[in-house]
Amino acid sequence: MRVAIIGQGYVGLTIAVGAAGAGHSVIGFDVNPALVDQLNAGKSHIEGITDNDLGSFISSGTYAASAEASALDGSDVIVIAVPTPLDSQRNPDLSYVHAAAELIQKKVKSPALIVNESTSYPGTLRNEIAAHITGVDHLYASSPERVDPGNTQWGTKNTPRLIGGMTSAAVAKAKEFYGSFCDSIIEVSSPEVAEAAKIFENTFRQVNIALVNEFAQIADALGISGREVLDAAATKPYGFMAFNPGPGVGGHCIPVDPSYLAHVANQVGVPATFIKRANEVNLAMPAYVVKRVIAGNDGSIEGKKVVVVGVSYKSNVADTRETPAAAVIDLLREQGATVTWHDDLVVSWRGETSSPIAGADIALVVTKHDGVDLAAINACGYVFDCTGSIAGVDGI
Ligand SMILES: NC(=O)c1ccc[n+]([C@@H]2O[C@H](COP(=O)([O-])OP(=O)(O)OC[C@H]3O[C@@H](n4cnc5c(N)ncnc54)[C@H](O)[C@@H]3O)[C@@H](O)[C@H]2O)c1
Repeated sequence: MRVAIIGQGYVGLTIAVGAAGAGHSVIGFDVNPALVDQLNAGKSHIEGITDNDLGSFISSGTYAASAEASALDGSDVIVIAVPTPLDSQRNPDLSYVHAAAELIQKKVKSPALIVNESTSYPGTLRNEIAAHITGVDHLYASSPERVDPGNTQWGTKNTPRLIGGMTSAAVAKAKEFYGSFCDSIIEVSSPEVAEAAKIFENTFRQVNIALVNEFAQIADALGISGREVLDAAATKPYGFMAFNPGPGVGGHCIPVDPSYLAHVANQVGVPATFIKRANEVNLAMPAYVVKRVIAGNDGSIEGKKVVVVGVSYKSNVADTRETPAAAVIDLLREQGATVTWHDDLVVSWRGETSSPIAGADIALVVTKHDGVDLAAINACGYVFDCTGSIAGVDGI
């Protein structure tokens, strides 16, 4: 099939490579010309897709990136994989989705299957995409992306894929397309069910992470190890699922997607109380971490040299979107500490660059990448570990 993918970020490039690997002819369209040039030069910008993979698809002619919207016309399948962030009021910002729909409306004159993979609330495909495209008889399906960047066990191929179409012809074509590079396809009765399933999955994570974050604080106040309690609870072979406490949630999904669900819940008059409370608990974790660090340093960190180790939102990825490390650093500075950070994957962030670990009075580990220098961390006078993986130090 001739496939065009709108957006070549984490999701769009992953799907592009999956489809190219199945022998489809793929155009990766993006509005960022620098990214397009980089991709066409065979340089991948995401973990899990090597320059070699990309280069071989480019040289065999199965993949090309483009910033030319005219490249979309004539496609059999058009996949939308654009950002769905929150605006300054923490409400859904569908401007990228609307821009993609407008692009299709203006540039695509031959009928195609249009699939939305961007995460959004139920009704997005029907009301925010299909309703904005007129004059051509396209097919429409929703297939929300479940990719977990950096996860080596679960990828595009073996993660079951949900499909909900606006018509049975759309479902049939979407099944044919995704079935060519995904092992398992699960058809649901409507695009709204597929859309809602995706945001409920991430709401489930957000709420459970908030629950263990609150529990970690209770356990600490009780003088017992929250991690040991969770490990003990996790020995129950049924009815329990382990989540880990941490400094807050980050990335493009867990802190964002539940607010999309809360938004539609509000519109239909049902308060999403769990989402609201989970947001509050998770957003308060950086302050809790800093409070514990102060308590572990005789009540003051003023004038202390603190190195924050790992500033991306999770281990072994360079993604700093919504990372709790930002709030942790700001709060440490408010307390008069001299704060640097160390992250070999991020290297440069918020106008600052990664500093060495050695020489700090306090090491505060927010995220632990493989290969980080543990000896250098342990050589700091005081260590606080948010990852639960360094023995014998303070932490959550
Ligand atoms: N990153 C993840 O782990 C993940 C997982 C599952 C779902 N999602 C969802 O997938 C969607 C995309 O996320 P992402 O992480 O790939 O985002 P991203 O920021 O990595 O990439 C988005 C790309 O879209 C491009 N873009 C923006 N507007 C465009 C337009 N009008 N036309 C063409 N290109 C445009 C940007 O330049 C960027 O390269 C979001 O809805 C997100 O919630 C992300």
